[in-house]
Amino acid sequence: MQMVTLSVIKADVGGYPGHSNVHPACKKAAEEMLAKAKKKKLLKDFKVMSCGDDLELIMTHGRGEDNKEIHKLSWDTFVKATAVAKKLKLYGAGQDLLADSFSGNVKGMGPGVAEMEFEERTSEPIVIFMADKTEPGAWNMALYKMFADPYGSAGLVIDPEMHDGFKFEVHDVYKHKKIVFNTPEEIYDLLMFIGSPGRYCTKRIYRKDGLKAAVSSVERLSLIAGKYVGKDDPVMFVRCQKGLPALGEVLDPFAFPYLVEGWMRGSHCGPLMPVSFEDAHPTRFDGPPRVIAAGFQMADGMLEGPVDLFKDPAFDGARNMANKIADYMRRHGPFEPHRLPLEVLEYTTMPAIMKKLENRWKPV
Ligand code: F6R
Ligand code: MG
Ligand code: MG
Repeated sequence: MQMVTLSVIKADVGGYPGHSNVHPACKKAAEEMLAKAKKKKLLKDFKVMSCGDDLELIMTHGRGEDNKEIHKLSWDTFVKATAVAKKLKLYGAGQDLLADSFSGNVKGMGPGVAEMEFEERTSEPIVIFMADKTEPGAWNMALYKMFADPYGSAGLVIDPEMHDGFKFEVHDVYKHKKIVFNTPEEIYDLLMFIGSPGRYCTKRIYRKDGLKAAVSSVERLSLIAGKYVGKDDPVMFVRCQKGLPALGEVLDPFAFPYLVEGWMRGSHCGPLMPVSFEDAHPTRFDGPPRVIAAGFQMADGMLEGPVDLFKDPAFDGARNMANKIADYMRRHGPFEPHRLPLEVLEYTTMPAIMKKLENRWKPV
């Protein structure tokens, strides 16, 4: 059995300019580092990409999930790219690296991680989604439509291999607990939780026979660091076709630019705009939040791709709608629901302001 692990590990090592983009020199530094690891056979293959100010390491290898060498390689790559960022005085250089040295696994140290070990099928189409200016729960609605909504994925009705449904592993990122929901039986229970994407995030999806279908990064930096240190800008990937949602069923949820949390200062609600690789630079009000889709065919662990899947007029409608929604939301200025509710801001800068005014609040 030919097992392969796909590890997508990302971090913001510094923005260019501001929080909008990754500098080519940072990407180059990462590429050099991973090329060496490929030469030494630590990696089978790799691609370095970026979405907004996030550097994305896409790696295949034979060492399984949570592997110390692979995580150390990622950490060292981010450290090297950070050194480049510091030299160029890029903005927020090293902002996602919460520790001074590596301690065995990059989880909990700042970077976002989506990893899956699986048996490569006869043909293995995979879509890797990368987002900027939003949070891990942003994948909830899209994953629900792909794997549990018959109005989204026709395969749930038509394909006998999908007809039994899927399992959703959902994490409570505040309490560090997880639960598995069976769909379609438990979709109402599932929706009760994943409808609150700030707290409940879909980590993994399996077919009922155990086939691994999707995995996401659910790290929440602000919760790890105990203070606001930027948004978590998640990644996820989905295996497609042949008893799993078709490529087009995996992409279709993003034709609706649904509202997500993030945007300016990680504190606003706005539309998730699907864009091409070259348009993945949040500008207006540091946004709106963006998502790219990189399509690959895997062949013996080698990555054929990426194909820029949202570079397609079929998503122009979503982009236009996202711009209209962005106009509408922006006009609310500092008012909810454009600005996030206070409970959410409690994990950002609100406590400092609260403290300053502590003594001025009098009983009514
Ligand atoms: C959101 C984000 C940006 C910054 C904003 C302020 O995730 O990264 O919107 O929050 O540009 O950044 P600072 O405080 O670094 O000036
Ligand atoms: Mg940044
Ligand atoms: Mg970012």
